[in-house]
Amino acid sequence: MFAATAKAPRTVTKGDWKVSMTPDDLYRNPMEIAWTFDYALGKGKVEDLYKRAKQNQWDSDELLPWDTEVDPSKPMVSDRASMFHKMPFFNKLSKSQRETFTAHSTAQLLSQFLHGEQGALMTAACVTHSVPDATAKLYAASQTMDEARHVEVYSRYCDKIAMVYPMSPWLKALIDATLKSDRYEKVMIGMNMIVEGLALGAFNNMYHSTTCPLLKALTFNVMRDESRHVSFGHAYLGPVIAKLDEAEREELAEFAFNAINIIVQATLAGDAQGLASRLDPGFMEVLANSGIDADDFFKGLEEAAEMGILQELPPGQIHSLKDLMLPAIARVGLITPTVRKKYEEVGIPITEDPRILNAMEGGHPEQLAAE
Ligand SMILES: [Fe+2]
Ligand SMILES: [Fe+2]
Repeated sequence: MFAATAKAPRTVTKGDWKVSMTPDDLYRNPMEIAWTFDYALGKGKVEDLYKRAKQNQWDSDELLPWDTEVDPSKPMVSDRASMFHKMPFFNKLSKSQRETFTAHSTAQLLSQFLHGEQGALMTAACVTHSVPDATAKLYAASQTMDEARHVEVYSRYCDKIAMVYPMSPWLKALIDATLKSDRYEKVMIGMNMIVEGLALGAFNNMYHSTTCPLLKALTFNVMRDESRHVSFGHAYLGPVIAKLDEAEREELAEFAFNAINIIVQATLAGDAQGLASRLDPGFMEVLANSGIDADDFFKGLEEAAEMGILQELPPGQIHSLKDLMLPAIARVGLITPTVRKKYEEVGIPITEDPRILNAMEGGHPEQLAAE
């Protein structure tokens, strides 16, 4: 009876915005709970990360300039940093249409940050109860608190601009596949290596492109936490994967490939960031709210893609898949000969250069994020 009540679809209203909940938003996961009675805390990389996590906790009430005035009708990012503004199609739009589109598409992106942070909150809690190692449990608990703070700050920022867009279907599918998996290693691969690689790249790009001082400060502090989360994926999971037998390693490699492929297929249906897609009701809403005809927009997107205009990222921006996700997967030995063929089949070039990844997760993203 409880389940039937809880599973009833409902609509959550937030100001003028409505978010529909579906029965798919409530499910059980098959994860095991692992007690551990070996409380010995050593001096390894995971202990270091836990220490850094304790030292770097922050309170958004004290740290962030919440009284900054934000005009929701004005773009929060500079035009030169927007991939969409490179499309020749954009020159045909009026200034106000361009501004409205930038404001709304940025709100749509920020909404993905918000929903993704909720997913991260749940995966971190999941790792806390299922990882069979005391230090990793403490670290995962610290990450759970970090993610709670991230949900809080993005939710407050979205309140400030009074815009929340629904979660993109592919991001929901990716995080659901992670939360529904049966091993904590898969949860860490899905979140700490893939989703957080994606997020770290997107946050870095937002940090560089935003013109709002509040959003800049918020993003900077979230990025510092995220760099630890990505680092945890490597520091803890690297040695665990090295000890697995071939069949188990293959199973994890396959999981990583499928997760990455969800992102790649989503970007094939639209732009390189997976933001603009006909399959995304949120993005279709962005176009409708900006008074832009969807057919014209996607024709413009195709035209720009054919001209190679969307290939090059604006200066200072990072390509999450190429620079962060694939090197993280390769570094822990999850590009096996079998999955390498699968990447080739779907046309994903494997990139293994870990330099940008190392710099981003070194706890000093400011080195990269510096203007
Ligand atoms: Fe986060
Ligand atoms: Fe995170």
